[in-house]
Amino acid sequence: MGHLNFFATVPNGIEDLASAEVERLLGVKCEPDVGKVFFSASLESVYILNLRSSMLNKIMICLCRSNFDSLHQIYSLVRQIDFSEYILPNQSFAVESERFGVHDFTSVDVSRIVGQAIIDSYLSCKNVRLKVNLEEPDVKFFSLVRDKELIFGLNTTGYSLHRRGYRVYEHPAALKPTLASAMLELSGWGHDRALIDPMCGGATILIEAALKARNIPPNYLRRDFAFTKLNFFDSNAYELFRENFLSQSNNGVYKIFGMEKLEHHLQGAKINCAKAGVSDTVFLNLGDALDYRTYPQESFSTVVTNPPYGVRMSLKHGLKRFYSIFLKTLKEHFSGSTLILITAAYRKFVSALEEVGLDVLEERSVLHGDLKAKIFKCRI
Ligand SMILES: C[S@@+](CC[C@H](N)C(=O)[O-])C[C@H]1O[C@@H](n2cnc3c(N)ncnc32)[C@H](O)[C@@H]1O
Repeated sequence: MGHLNFFATVPNGIEDLASAEVERLLGVKCEPDVGKVFFSASLESVYILNLRSSMLNKIMICLCRSNFDSLHQIYSLVRQIDFSEYILPNQSFAVESERFGVHDFTSVDVSRIVGQAIIDSYLSCKNVRLKVNLEEPDVKFFSLVRDKELIFGLNTTGYSLHRRGYRVYEHPAALKPTLASAMLELSGWGHDRALIDPMCGGATILIEAALKARNIPPNYLRRDFAFTKLNFFDSNAYELFRENFLSQSNNGVYKIFGMEKLEHHLQGAKINCAKAGVSDTVFLNLGDALDYRTYPQESFSTVVTNPPYGVRMSLKHGLKRFYSIFLKTLKEHFSGSTLILITAAYRKFVSALEEVGLDVLEERSVLHGDLKAKIFKCRI
């Protein structure tokens, strides 16, 4: 197989950052789209991106991207594809579909017709009728119907890469590591400078920072990638890539600090850091983000944080006041630093910024789970 077309699904709102990451990791041109990025690259990119990307969710080999007029035409487009390079005769498969736009068919209809086209194509190439298994398929396909466009791909990842494998302690309001990574990218943090997340919860932002600084592949704990079941999978080549990437990591000393008000979250943060292999890179202590006396004695250049939104917390003085006191604390003691903050209570945060007299350098809308949230970059 020479160069292949790919697309990767990414969290909405960080497509440009994810696209830049693909370009950096592979040295190819990448095109951002809504909730995804497109690029062409070699087959080895499957190994490289699944291990090393920090902002992609699922990496798909793009088998078809075309306009269509009818459900029957979707069948014809998929029926033309040769599946024998990807799926073995004794393997089962499933098709997951999403649909956006107005159509006279449902996403279930799309999955059914695409599944039939895969079976018919394989039958004509190999004279074998492939089995469908919706519960535990060996191979998963993904079809996206967007108005008149069909984007059809083969999932090389399996479940989303935001599940890194280090989250032993599940914080009830945990941030997706992909978004944490995007926030760190936006911060412009130089790894030789001091960084703090003063409301660190289960330490997602800090772990992502440590993985970046130490050049550890973010998904190195994942051993169950979907590509390991695909026909082209070369386990020797893959293990060589993995070993090579791991050997490029470093044991440098970095100034990555975290504070948390609640003891049980702090203990959870420690457990997660240990699982991620970065306990000796992240310094954690109990503290109050609103009280300067509890901060570590460092001059922080970068503050990256995911404070409470007020959804699950009852704040004594209200969320706007909480944000104001936090911003005043930063302004008094870390003037000149950069703050990156994600919140779903963005109106209250903007009004706190105005009250304290701080400017927004950049803001972007993102989806944090089902919540509409915003990431802000501010000069303190
Ligand atoms: C949205 S959660 C952070 C989740 C974290 N990003 C993760 O992925 O696990 C906010 C955290 O801030 C903590 N917190 C709230 N008020 C605080 C304060 N004044 N000082 C320090 N931590 C605080 C909460 O206990 C909670 O763990």
